[in-house]
Amino acid sequence: MELVRTKDEVRRAVAGRRAGEKIIGLVPTMGGFHEGHLTLMRLCAGRAGFTVASLFVNPIQFGPGEDLESYPRHEQRDRELAAGAGVDLLFAPAVDEMYAPGCSTFVEETELGQGLCGASRPGHFRGVTTVVTKLLNIVQPDLAVFGRKDLQQLMVIRRMVRDLDFPVEIIEGPLVREPDGLAMSSRNVYLDESRRAAAPGMYAVLMRAAAQIAGGQRQISAALAAAREEIERKTGGRLEYLEALDNELAAADEAAGCAYLAAALQLGATRLIDNVRVPPGGSGDGPDG
Ligand code: PAJ
Repeated sequence: MELVRTKDEVRRAVAGRRAGEKIIGLVPTMGGFHEGHLTLMRLCAGRAGFTVASLFVNPIQFGPGEDLESYPRHEQRDRELAAGAGVDLLFAPAVDEMYAPGCSTFVEETELGQGLCGASRPGHFRGVTTVVTKLLNIVQPDLAVFGRKDLQQLMVIRRMVRDLDFPVEIIEGPLVREPDGLAMSSRNVYLDESRRAAAPGMYAVLMRAAAQIAGGQRQISAALAAAREEIERKTGGRLEYLEALDNELAAADEAAGCAYLAAALQLGATRLIDNVRVPPGGSGDGPDG
């Protein structure tokens, strides 16, 4: 695996492979690799002849007071893990390589990114869509892989790619979990022992509520109300949101049909997100993905 730090090096490396008629795949990341990231890399490497991963903690998607400074940065470890997961080229630029001084152009999806995480993190998805646009322009991949762990991000990126005619196929990667059900996240390392032990409670409650809704035992609103109370009681955290969503991320009711339950939980200083499909089942709805 090759490590490069500049856009020019990426362009040169990819141009050679493209001339050799290889399918180019991209996995954007912010590092702190865990099995979720590695699963996306393996998925990409299985589909593409040349897999590029980016490792860039993107400052413009963090709000004031968020964890930009403390975000896990372990480049040497990440290099080894990425190489083992089939990545051919790791692009790890410095901030001033990615963003020219005084850069003043941003890309914003204006509908799907407004609610849920977008409501409490103003500017977050604008930062994501801007950096993903830049990465798609730098690498010009045939396909790019994003995890269902970040369901709203995946939907926002799909919408952006559709609306702006990016010539790329967006592939959904499964949601990978710890054996106890906690969705893997680079931020899980922030949890102290007792919060780490309590955190999987959110997933357990989401799964039960999803089964009740799918089986018709409970109306969506009643299932959500009970689940909200139970998640906070079990985890000791504060729910930022717990919503039933249709396939387009709109609020689901009995008539519209519920496709996902999605939640964000503030557990001490750590913000955790998770989602399950309704009905539960399929990849990402059991421990270990
Ligand atoms: P990051 O949080 O590093 O995630 C990189 C990719 O890994 C995303 O597509 C995310 O959905 C996926 N991922 C994270 N946890 C996962 C899990 N438990 N199972 C499966 N996939 C998982 O998401 C970002 O970085 C950034 O916003 C980025 C898209 C790179 C733009 O800066």
